Order: sequence, then structure tokens, then C-alpha cells
Amino acid sequence: MKKQILSGIQPSGILTLGNYLGALRNWIKIQNDYDCKFFVADLHSITVDQNPIELRKNIKSAIMQYIACGLDPEKNTIFMQSHVHEHAELGWILNCSTYMGELSRMTQFKDKSKKQANIKVGLFDYPVLMAADILLYDADYVPVGEDQRQHLEIARDIAQRFNSTYNKEIFKLPEAFITENTARIMSLQEPTKKMSKSDENKEATIFLLDDRETVLRKIKKAVTDSENIIKYSDEKPGIKNLMNIYSAISEKTYKQIEEECKDLGYGKFKQIVACAVSDVLDPIQKKYYELSSSENDEYLKSICKKGAETAQKTAEKKLKEVYDAVGFIV
Ligand code: TYM
Repeated sequence: MKKQILSGIQPSGILTLGNYLGALRNWIKIQNDYDCKFFVADLHSITVDQNPIELRKNIKSAIMQYIACGLDPEKNTIFMQSHVHEHAELGWILNCSTYMGELSRMTQFKDKSKKQANIKVGLFDYPVLMAADILLYDADYVPVGEDQRQHLEIARDIAQRFNSTYNKEIFKLPEAFITENTARIMSLQEPTKKMSKSDENKEATIFLLDDRETVLRKIKKAVTDSENIIKYSDEKPGIKNLMNIYSAISEKTYKQIEEECKDLGYGKFKQIVACAVSDVLDPIQKKYYELSSSENDEYLKSICKKGAETAQKTAEKKLKEVYDAVGFIV
């Protein structure tokens, strides 16, 4: 039997180069070798304020971006989280197996809550829902970027505690699947901070639908240093980030890039990186705009419907096991 893979992305805007290199691209690479489920984490996205009209657009757009990036709907189960009600239900059960103290330690909560005036309970509770997403499907591996590592660890802790409380191996312990050099693509404007969909400074983030001119402008303006030497070093976070991006796309090692670019200076190097990024984004955008024609609405809906039905078969079974274990009458 193939190993189980599960992952998701929040539909809180157009996906970023960070989402692509940190997660989506890995999903595509492994889709032939595993039994994969990929969902749009719409329930997660309302942990911060959303405009319903925008959210609906973003959810549909996320599905189109998944497919445009190369996820094959014939090979993978693609669905929307809210279409499989077991996610929310298991989330509740797991809430009753999770401590306030462990959730208080989540760095993403600490960061995000700093930016909010009224912090929602859902934002605090978010890792529990994420644990439910993963544990429902007995996922072996969860391909994510580095920022999700802590959430994977708490999912394992919750699973382990639940199994031991009820003295039964109900949940499999999932492992994070993180690719070293693309685990954390950084902001172009503040290269010590993660590139993010929600960065207020749009120049800091490359979006999958940015055209060539925009990509070039953003990368040209990327913050670097004054040395003008292309060298992979923690002391040069801006250049390190651009080298990470270029290396991930070109599959060249840092040494090869240093050698190739040693006489170029930052201006020329940035042009090379921008060109490589756009060469990846061009075909994705072409496919995306094809899919976005209203003729494809039914096709997209049918993918999500079929995906939710497939996912639900597994989720339903697992939730029943859980209900039984806790003492509900099933
Ligand atoms: P989200 O929507 O913030 O990000 C989606 C995926 O992209 C990765 N990522 C990055 N990787 C490298 N560099 C970056 N700058 C970067 N920004 C984002 C994230 O690590 C993630 O893999 N909680 C999740 C969604 C989720 C989920 C799940 C994931 C909900 N349930 C169950 C896996 C399994 C999130 O907010 O991802």
C-alpha cells in the first residue's frame, strides 16, 4: 500500500513563491509515488477577518492554482476542507485533548496575534484543527514549509496523548516532509522575515500570478547588502534568499551559482533570478487563465465534489473510531 500524504494551503490570497517552492512544488514531485490528498484550508482562513466575496474568489482561485502548478486531479484527491465536515468535528474532540499551555507556545500564534486588535479563539485553536486535518487520514508525511514544523510537532503530541489516553493506536504519528533549501523563502524587502501572502508591502512577495515585469521589478528592488559579492552566507540574508530561490529553480548548487555569477554583480544576478522565476511562472499562469474561463466552472466543481467524497470515506471511518474510543454511542 502506498504511503499517505496530506497537505493544504489557506486561501487567503494569491499563492506566493514561498507557497510554491516550500510546499506545492513538492506536492507535484511526489504525486506519483504516494496516495495524496491536498485540500484548500478554507476553515483555517477565517481565523482572521475575511471578506466573503473575496474569500469565495480566493478558494476557487486556490484550486485553479493547484491544478495550474501541475497537481493532477486524476492522481490526487483535491478538495475543500469545509466540504468534509469531519475536520471540524474531530477538531472539537481534539480540543478536549489539548492543553492551553501547549497552544500558547505556538510561535505563529504569537506572531499573528501581535498584529490583531481582537484575537479570535480560532486563531489560538488553529493548530488543533490542523492536527485534525492530518490525523483524520492517517497521513504518513505532511509536505510543508519550515513555518509549519511546530504545528506538525503538536499534531504528533496530540495524537500520542489521545492514543495513550484511550489505550488504542487510533492515530498514526505524522512526519513533516520539509525540503531544506526551500523550507523558508524570505521576504524580498526584509530578508530575515518569511515571504508571506499577507505582507502589507506587496513588493516583498512574489505572487504566482505576477507578470514578468512585476517579478523583475520586485527582485531588482530586493534588499541585499553593499558587498556586491555573490556568496551563500547567513550574514548576507538577501543574497542567500535569492540564491535559495535560484538554486531551487535551476537545481544548481550554491557553489555552482557562486562560480557562475562571480563576476556579475547584484544587478545582473537579480536579472538572472527574475528570469528564472518568470520562466517557472509563465506556464503556470497560462494554464491558470485557461482554467479561469467560466466554461471550466463545472469541471472545477466536479473535481472538488469527487475529492470531498473520496476524502470523506476515510474521514468518516476515522471519526467513528474516535467517537467509539471516547465513549460515544456510534
Ligand atoms: P499556509 O497557507 O500559510 O502556507 C501553505 C504552505 O506554504 C508553506 N509556506 C512557505 N514555505 C516556504 N517559504 C515561505 N515563505 C512559505 N510561506 C508558506 C507553508 O509552510 C505551508 O506548507 N496551516 C497551514 C495550512 C494547513 C495545513 C493543514 C498544512 C491547514 N491544515 C494540514 C498541512 C496539513 C498554513 O497556514 O499554510
